[in-house]
Amino acid sequence: TVLSKLLRALPKAELHLHIEGTLEPELIFQLAQRNGIALSYPSVEALRAAYAFTDLQSFLDVYYAGASVLIHAQDFEDMAYAYFERAAADGIVHAELFFDPQTHTERGVAMVTVIEGLTRAGARAQQELGISSALILCFLRHLSEDAAFETLEQALPYRQHFIGVGLDSSERGHPPEKFARVFARCRELGLHLVAHAGEEGPPAYIETALDLLKVERIDHGVRCTDSPALVQRLAREQIPLTVCPLSNVKLCVFPQMSEHNLPALLAAGLKVTLNSDDPAYFGGYLLRNYEACFEAFPQWGRAEAIQLARNSLEASFAAPEQKAGWL
Ligand code: HPA
Ligand code: ZN
Repeated sequence: TVLSKLLRALPKAELHLHIEGTLEPELIFQLAQRNGIALSYPSVEALRAAYAFTDLQSFLDVYYAGASVLIHAQDFEDMAYAYFERAAADGIVHAELFFDPQTHTERGVAMVTVIEGLTRAGARAQQELGISSALILCFLRHLSEDAAFETLEQALPYRQHFIGVGLDSSERGHPPEKFARVFARCRELGLHLVAHAGEEGPPAYIETALDLLKVERIDHGVRCTDSPALVQRLAREQIPLTVCPLSNVKLCVFPQMSEHNLPALLAAGLKVTLNSDDPAYFGGYLLRNYEACFEAFPQWGRAEAIQLARNSLEASFAAPEQKAGWL
């Protein structure tokens, strides 16, 4: 259709993408074989069949198990380059990739291995696909703030290879304030700051992410609608929300796409962006997320498509000159 051609053709940025969440079952099996790692699933089909999630934690358990096949820098490079190829096909011109170093360092994989592999993929994507990209290091919030500090120390020799930090993993019971000191340190270091908040957690977590962590964007943020005052604030301050529609349905944040609150968020004047989160697990890359929304929300048309794509470029951490070339 005309609209789906437009959705692909519009220059877009992807701002909420966990690179470990792009590991397709086929690549998991390939890397397991290459690295001599035993998997607890007999086949690609059996692994894919395990992707029936009831909430965030049920997904995270499978996601961390999948990441265990990543050992060498080449593995990280192969994974990320496969993502960039799909991103280019979807009309993405700029991608800011989350990575979870603690998932790897806790298994004995060195920080340098992770960052080197991802950096090489980003350089090749720029060269060969014309996509610009950046890395955002995420702290796992189910671990301690001390562990986050240690991770930051391990990453600082490679400071020039990442532009910011984020906060992900199990949200409930791990409020932003647990990481106030490490985020303050990252702020002093001139890093960009983002955090997952209001995916499963309450609106109060969105507020503390903004007020105590001083984040520049909220990842997910969909539960803001439980607090009308917060929605007003997010609109007034034009805080970008990196919403992940297929993820939200797969993790049962909303029962089905037609019940997602995206139309309400956009109508309230929030700076909403669409993203794929963990596309290998949630049934689609960025373009599929756009299409699923436009199929589910009949009131959305050309104007919303242009607005959402534009929001993603504006909310990115790309340099103003680069943004000017897109907008
Ligand atoms: N939420 C929290 N942590 C995550 C996610 C998510 O959607 N994806 C990967 N880690
Ligand atoms: Zn996420």
